[in-house]
Amino acid sequence: MSTERILIIGSNGQIGLELAENLRLKYGSENVVCSDVRKMENQIEPFEIVDVLDKDALSGIVKKYEITQVYLLAALLSATAEKNPKFAWDLNMNGLFHVLDMAKEGIIKKIYWPSSIAVFGPTTPRLNTPQYTVMEPNTIYGISKQAGERYCEYYHQKYGVDVRSIRYPGLIGWKSAPGGGTTDYAVHIYHEALKSKSYECFLSANTALPMMYMPDAIRATIELMEAPAENVKIRSSYNLGGISFNPEEIAASIRKYIPEFTISYNPDFRQAIADSWPQSIDDSEARKDWGWNPAYDLDGMTKVMLENLSK
Ligand code: SER
Repeated sequence: MSTERILIIGSNGQIGLELAENLRLKYGSENVVCSDVRKMENQIEPFEIVDVLDKDALSGIVKKYEITQVYLLAALLSATAEKNPKFAWDLNMNGLFHVLDMAKEGIIKKIYWPSSIAVFGPTTPRLNTPQYTVMEPNTIYGISKQAGERYCEYYHQKYGVDVRSIRYPGLIGWKSAPGGGTTDYAVHIYHEALKSKSYECFLSANTALPMMYMPDAIRATIELMEAPAENVKIRSSYNLGGISFNPEEIAASIRKYIPEFTISYNPDFRQAIADSWPQSIDDSEARKDWGWNPAYDLDGMTKVMLENLSK
């Protein structure tokens, strides 16, 4: 039996839903406590309603279940954060502080916290963006992730906190609705391809961004969390590469399965966000330190996305 007791904060979001499923299989349902600000229909137990900003409530749950590891997924994504910058900063930062402090106090042993390609900015080299490079994010989301990375590394160095993190590219999955990200067009497009055979994209045709099929991202997350501590050399956050494509290319991939599919373009404020981010990512550190290797390419992802969404 597993000795780990896991708490997922933000378990009903895009990543949380799929992560919870995988962690339950690995560690046993009773050892994976889900939490979110709202309960879903058919919510799998154990589940607790909690606001990550309520530190006392959070530590109450951690103590009640004798939690050893926390996956902190509650956050506002890039597009939503631009609409509500103060709340985004508050949620993204104070949530992290609460969890980092619990680890510093020895109440929990290990933390997973997601960072993002949004930590990079318009002055970053955009092709094959290195792990260590210029980082001047210009979105609230990116600024909060960049600050969060610095805090993670600081808590690791000063207090020995075992915190692990990945700079996720755009994540694409069929099990949950996307949640306000700039990369989310690449999720909507599959839904619309099946529903109306056409899609109006809020990014321009040649806007390439780093992306990843969700099962790859979940596998990377669990592999990083299970890697021996000494192999996890980077305690800010790891670059993680998967697939890189633009709207035109994903549309072409969909046309291999739905020939009549059409795409049109009507860029909005999210174009500027996308233009400030990398187009592709150099993830050689993750490959070297803990053996990262993505499995899905664009057409492989399109095939499974369309198969599953059409069910
Ligand atoms: N997918 C996220 C977003 O677009 C990036 O981390 O906000």
